[in-house]
Amino acid sequence: MHLLALFAPISASFVVSETWNPLPSIPIAPRQEHTTVFLPPNNVVVIGGITNGTQSTTSIVQSYSIAHRKWTSLPPLPIPLNHPNAAVISGTLYIFGGLAQTNTSWTAVSDSWRYDAKRKTWRPIADVPNGGIGSAAIGVWDGKIILAGGLQEILLVSPYTQSTVPNVHVYDTVTNTYLALPSAAAKLPDARDHACGAVIDRRFYVLGGRERGQLTGKSSVLVLDLDYLDKGWSVADGTMPSPRAGLACGVVEKRVYTFGGEGNLKVESGVWNSTEVYDVETDGWETLGEMKVPRHGGGAVAVGGKIYVPGGGDVIGMSPMSYVDVLIP
Ligand SMILES: *[C@@H]1O[C@H](CO)[C@@H](O)[C@H](O)[C@H]1NC(C)=O
Ligand SMILES: *[C@@H]1O[C@H](CO)[C@@H](O)[C@H](O)[C@H]1NC(C)=O
Ligand SMILES: *[C@@H]1O[C@H](CO)[C@@H](O)[C@H](O)[C@H]1NC(C)=O
Repeated sequence: MHLLALFAPISASFVVSETWNPLPSIPIAPRQEHTTVFLPPNNVVVIGGITNGTQSTTSIVQSYSIAHRKWTSLPPLPIPLNHPNAAVISGTLYIFGGLAQTNTSWTAVSDSWRYDAKRKTWRPIADVPNGGIGSAAIGVWDGKIILAGGLQEILLVSPYTQSTVPNVHVYDTVTNTYLALPSAAAKLPDARDHACGAVIDRRFYVLGGRERGQLTGKSSVLVLDLDYLDKGWSVADGTMPSPRAGLACGVVEKRVYTFGGEGNLKVESGVWNSTEVYDVETDGWETLGEMKVPRHGGGAVAVGGKIYVPGGGDVIGMSPMSYVDVLIP
């Protein structure tokens, strides 16, 4: 529970509101369906995505220095990818496939790399199993990276199928292999892509997401105890107030802040403006003020208690923006 709630009767006239501050825009081109990670000591990194329409998948990788308030470019991905799966562990950035461009589809590839910062190059690592996925929910713990759900393909022509999967994979950075998982952990209770992933206290949470299309947003939270993988997945009691996918999220202490998303039929843009916070200790949700610039398909990352939200689309479908802001809770 928010501290303020305890004192609500005596501070009713006192409005707590979080602050959204704009930051320097993403240079070169606007971005959507990229992935956002924190690369220590100081950088918010934006990976791949699209820049303008279905045929604009990019290999651009850009880094925003929080200390210097400046963007620079890293070496591009070996191939252009949208919805890449990425994580940073012990200061090393890993990419686990994503969706690659064809004339008529965005189709998963399993190609994976780690970034060698010394030599400024991408080095191949083990392929993602089963041909790969895009837009998986991702968590990191103990030298391992978990990829949950995602999709294998988005058809860009009729019937516009989006093939969502429930598969779960765990990559071990020490052995460069994928672990064999107990069957209770190897599949999500339901397939979902464009969900958020967060690890808090050795539990992995998968929040929201969707199954086979923009208007199928989910509100449930799936939980996996990373110390007891054989116990498998459970579904939390607390449900997200606005069922959403294509949302961005960041973790501050024991709370997952979730932002925006796609498929809101109540507004013309089709984009959720929601900022909703899940507290893993109370299994409860709190609704905060609306996003200043509602977006979806952007990604976010928490650094030092602030959450950075670069790019994303401001209209359902494709509408990439260069806009970047930071939420100070
Ligand atoms: C976006 O793509 C369209 C169609 O491919 C093209 O005509 C247009 O010039 C592009 N706009 C920008 C800003 O690149
Ligand atoms: C994809 O589209 C381009 C440009 O329209 C065309 O040249 C190419 O042959 C197409 N490729 C396939 C595999 O259809
Ligand atoms: C935020 O979204 C809600 C519906 O989800 C809508 O009622 C409200 O008007 C939106 N706020 C703004 C400022 O557009």
